[in-house]
Amino acid sequence: MKSSTLILVLVIALTVVVFSPIFLPQQACGEDAPTAEGKGIFQAKCSPCHTIGGGRLVGPDLKGVTAVRDHAWLTRFISTPDRVLASGDPIAKQLLKEYGGVAMPNLGLNQTQVDELIVYLAETGPRKKSEPPVAATIAAAGDPQRGTAFFTGAISFQRGGAPCMSCHTVSAVAPLGSGSLGPDLTGIHGRLGEAGLASILATLPFPTMRPLYQSRPLTQAEREDLAALFRIAAGRPAVNTTPRICAIAIAGCVLLLLLAGVVWRKRLRSVRRTFVTEMTKTEGYQG
Ligand code: HEC
Ligand code: HEC
Repeated sequence: MKSSTLILVLVIALTVVVFSPIFLPQQACGEDAPTAEGKGIFQAKCSPCHTIGGGRLVGPDLKGVTAVRDHAWLTRFISTPDRVLASGDPIAKQLLKEYGGVAMPNLGLNQTQVDELIVYLAETGPRKKSEPPVAATIAAAGDPQRGTAFFTGAISFQRGGAPCMSCHTVSAVAPLGSGSLGPDLTGIHGRLGEAGLASILATLPFPTMRPLYQSRPLTQAEREDLAALFRIAAGRPAVNTTPRICAIAIAGCVLLLLLAGVVWRKRLRSVRRTFVTEMTKTEGYQG
């Protein structure tokens, strides 16, 4: 009994001695930990759309943003950009306009993650005067025809990602519209720019798409082909398909009614006629 307790105490003491160097430095540099955490979160969640000092991508360069916006606003915006925008916040409205109507998605971060991100952003130094756009990172060699086939699903993505058309439309591809869960992508090239588009296609970082493509990213060639399609599609205006679909529905309805009228034009008459002859017969019989 006693010896086993002694062994247990010894083992615990040894464990503490052996592992203390691992625990101690972390406590000592506890101040820096949030920055490292914040950097990690930034790389994973924000870098598809933002740079720090690298220029405008899908959204603004975030270098020095903590000096421009106050802490409470940043906290609210980073955790729930959708709600800040919906509340009619003037800064959010202005940003949305400046960035071509591409809204920053709600990434579902918790309070600790947001705090760590802000600590990290605060250490990035002052904002630059101008934001040069990031150089394009996607070759212009894509084939728009193949891009269209990928978009519609006529050719499957090599790694099995879902065709974009199940949720999006591009008027050059589907004049009657198609999937409408996601926004119309007709003018997306103009709204994101070359670099933004390249970055988005590489990661598809929006909450609805991420789970679908995270383990099945598009290949470089597929991205180039889709980019080629979006470059061409940008020339054609986005269509509101509702009136067109309504018109087709009404025309179809009228056509069906006419057809029914022609096919069954004798229906009522013949029913009535047999009825009438039947009646006269019976009357004649009675009379
Ligand atoms: C899918 C692209 C996308 C992702 C991912 C994204 N953002 Fe944004 N962000 C935008 C866009 C676009 C804007 C500007 C338009 C708007 O506000 O909607 C913006 C604006 C901002 C602003 C306001 C900048 C200013 O000048 O006031 C902050 C701060 C910000 N984002 C932080 C973040 C952080 C932190 C993350 C990661 C947790 C992140 N964003 C992830 C697209 C994105
Ligand atoms: C399951 C449905 C779905 C599929 C499939 C899908 N998307 Fe999306 N996409 C969305 C939704 C929804 C949004 C709006 C942001 C959000 O809520 O995540 C969006 C947003 C976007 C945006 C930003 C548009 C903007 O104006 O803000 C781009 C670009 C985009 N998708 C490209 C693609 C491409 C390219 C594909 C095919 C490889 C694709 N999407 C497949 C649902 C989808």
